[in-house]
Amino acid sequence: MLRLENVSHSFKNGSEVLKVLHNIEFEVKEGEMIALLGSSGSGKSTLLNLMAGLMKPTEGHIYIAGQDIVKYSENKLAVFRRKHIGFIFQAYELIPTLTVRENVELPLVFQSVPRSKRRKKAMELLEITGIGDKAEMYPSQLSGGQQQRVSIARSLITEPSVIFADEPTGNLDTKTEEEILRIMMTLNQSMNTTFVIVTHEMEVAAQMKKTIMLRDGYLVTPGEGSGPEAPRQPEVIALAACEEPVVHKPEVVAPAASEEPAMHSPEVIAPAVTEEPGARQPEVVVPAASEEPAAPEPADAAQELQAVPSGPEKAGDES
Ligand SMILES: Nc1ncnc2c1ncn2[C@@H]1O[C@H](COP(=O)(O)OP(=O)(O)OP(=O)(O)O)[C@@H](O)[C@H]1O
Ligand SMILES: [Mg+2]
Repeated sequence: MLRLENVSHSFKNGSEVLKVLHNIEFEVKEGEMIALLGSSGSGKSTLLNLMAGLMKPTEGHIYIAGQDIVKYSENKLAVFRRKHIGFIFQAYELIPTLTVRENVELPLVFQSVPRSKRRKKAMELLEITGIGDKAEMYPSQLSGGQQQRVSIARSLITEPSVIFADEPTGNLDTKTEEEILRIMMTLNQSMNTTFVIVTHEMEVAAQMKKTIMLRDGYLVTPGEGSGPEAPRQPEVIALAACEEPVVHKPEVVAPAASEEPAMHSPEVIAPAVTEEPGARQPEVVVPAASEEPAAPEPADAAQELQAVPSGPEKAGDES
C-alpha cells in the first residue's frame, strides 16, 4: 500500500546542498505497523514528511494506494492527504480553543460532513481511545497522555489508509507511552489501519513486527545494523520487493491547524540511541483552505464547531 522507489532528498541552504536521504527503497503492506528508527538527524522526520506528501523528494517515487504522489500537483496532493493520510505528532497539535470532541471532529468539518454524524463518530472514537468522559473539556485540562489520545482519535476520524506518527510517545512517561502504544496497536488490528511510527524508543520498536532503520540518511540493511549505535531490530526492512498496493476506501484527512505554540517537553532518550538536545521538530503543515474549495477555512471550521452547542442539531443529538 506504500512503496518507495529510489527516494533521495536534499535541502538547499543558500549555495550549499545537503543530501539527507539516499536511495531509500522499501514497502509497507496494508495493515502493517512499522517503526522507523534512527539516531537524531538520520532523516526520519524528513522521510515521514515525504511519505505523507508534505514535501516532495528530490528524486524517486512514492506510491500510496497505487498512485505516485510525487507526480501530483500541490492541490491534488492536498486533497490526497485529506483522503488517505492521518497524522499524530509528538506535541499533539490540538487546537486549544476547541473542546476535545470538536478537535476530533475538525477533519470532518473540512469534508462538510453533517454535524450530528461527525459528532457521533468523534464520540465513538473518544470512547475507543478511553476518554469519552473528557469530550467537553479543553485540551489544556487534559494530561499529555490524554491529549495524545485525542490526537489519535482525530487522526482516525477520516478512516485514512495510513497514519504517520512522528515520535507520538516522545513527550510521555513510560507507563503512558505503553498505554498509547497499546491503543495504536489495538486500532491497527481492529481497523486494519497501517501505521508508520517514528520512534527513538526501543521499547516501542521492539513491539513492532517490522522496523525500518536509517543511519545518516541511508537505509540500514540487515546485517549492517550491528554497530554500537544500532538498536536491536525485530526485523529490518530493506529493498523490499514491490507488491501491487491495495486501494483502500478512506475518506478525507485534514491535519488540524494548530494555534498552540509547539510544546517543548524534554524528549525521552532511548538507551543506545543518541539524541541531540534541541532536536528539530517537524512542522505541522496545514493544507491551505484554497486547496479544496468546498472546505471551510480553519477559522470558519472552528466557528462552525463552536456553534454546535446552540445549533439546531444539538437537541436532536441529545435526545
Ligand atoms: N528544512 C531543512 N533545511 C535544511 N536542512 C534540514 C531541513 N530539515 C531537516 N534538515 C536536515 O536534515 C537532516 C535530517 O533531519 P530530520 O529532521 O529528518 O532528522 P530526524 O531523524 O527526524 O532527527 P530527530 O530524531 O532529531 O527528530 C538533519 O541533518 C537536518 O539538519
Ligand atoms: Mg525527527
